[in-house]
Amino acid sequence: MSGTSNLDKISQGRLSYNWALKSMKIISKITEKYEKRKPLAGLDLAFCLHITKETSVLIMAARKLGGNIILCSANPLSVQSDILEFLKDNEIIVHAKTKMNEKEYLENIKKVLNTNPDLITDDGSTMHLYCHKMGSKNVIGGTEETTSGINRLQVLDTKKLLKYPIIGVNNAYTKYLFDNRYGTGQSTIDGILRTTNIFIPGKNFIILGYGWVGKGISSCLRGLGAQVTVIEVNPIRALEAYMDGYIVSRIEEVADKGDFFITCTGQKNVLRKEHIDRMKDGVFIANAGHFDVEIDLRYIKQQDKNPIIVRPNVDSYNINGKTVNLLSKGRVLNLVGGEGHSPEVMSLSFGNQLLSILYIIENHKKMQNHLYPVPKNIDNTIAKYALEAFGIEIDNPTKEQLDYHNEVNIQI
Ligand SMILES: NC(=O)c1ccc[n+]([C@@H]2O[C@H](COP(=O)([O-])OP(=O)(O)OC[C@H]3O[C@@H](n4cnc5c(N)ncnc54)[C@H](O)[C@@H]3O)[C@@H](O)[C@H]2O)c1
Repeated sequence: MSGTSNLDKISQGRLSYNWALKSMKIISKITEKYEKRKPLAGLDLAFCLHITKETSVLIMAARKLGGNIILCSANPLSVQSDILEFLKDNEIIVHAKTKMNEKEYLENIKKVLNTNPDLITDDGSTMHLYCHKMGSKNVIGGTEETTSGINRLQVLDTKKLLKYPIIGVNNAYTKYLFDNRYGTGQSTIDGILRTTNIFIPGKNFIILGYGWVGKGISSCLRGLGAQVTVIEVNPIRALEAYMDGYIVSRIEEVADKGDFFITCTGQKNVLRKEHIDRMKDGVFIANAGHFDVEIDLRYIKQQDKNPIIVRPNVDSYNINGKTVNLLSKGRVLNLVGGEGHSPEVMSLSFGNQLLSILYIIENHKKMQNHLYPVPKNIDNTIAKYALEAFGIEIDNPTKEQLDYHNEVNIQI
């Protein structure tokens, strides 16, 4: 970051933390409310999250509430080095380094679990899965941040294999409507520009998946003048994309037409040999889904064993004489190639995390080993806190309106 290059990593990390903290008013509000009570005192809390400045705000807040924190990364490439050093300097135990291989990344998750935490906050559910395999011991409950992680937990829940209650934070309105959509939308543009600095207006972008992430990315790209085509498998989502004004097509139809392909489906191999072989020379392909499984990376790597790293996070592969530019090694473009979500939007997601953690601590004895939604009152509280943070006031229904809603309107 320019202007801070003369500072050591810890000071730089402190500046980044303070920068994010100022915009994460929901976290500050929750911290102020519970700080004296120290509801997390005596508990070991394991966090497996992208190690960003926004995460450092959540971690420091959990510590202020009395928790003993052990942290590792939810992705081998999403660790911000200044934040890593800042957290370590604040006596947070962190098992991570900036660029890890897959083995190191998984080893670090296991190291955290070996400390026998009481509660697990995960992003992608790799830690939850390992915990189930290794034995849960002390765990009284957990939370999960993202769609792909919840998909995994839903399978465990259906098979009655969950060993502790977990709150699926992603499925709160105040998480996916804002973080997945606007947060990923904007930070994916950041990732595109930092990695490629291409000119977006007029470019043909093909977006695979029109879920909350796909909606956000498509809308931001359209705002910048790109031509956006959506690929979907769900008829309702495809119809929604069509009525939102996008071209909806089949990947076979557009494989040779796109300038830039972005996957965000949570599914495996949505871009594969038969599509990649037909792509234009110089095409860009990237992923914004949680795992690096959406593009058939094995096929790409088999075609060219020595890709040229033309710029940071841009690997150029020669495939059948054509250049295919793979961004951020097929891992989350917005976090690996860009800076990730802005603090304002992470304040909503992590506000849900913090209140869900407090809810579990208070209620875990009454909870079953199931996947739970974020309680409605938490979702509403986060929305109210967010409006407050943005300085927005809203109306309340009048008594007459409440009565009409509750009773009068059934009278005919
Ligand atoms: N990059 C980030 O910062 C970030 C943030 C939030 C979520 N995520 C991740 O992004 C992914 C998508 O999340 P979401 O909340 O939008 O999920 P979602 O379930 O709302 O949307 C996924 C969409 O992909 C579609 N799809 C599935 N298979 C497809 C295929 N073969 N071709 C085309 N479309 C297909 C589904 O029908 C669905 O509409 C998940 O992996 C999630 O964990 C990433």
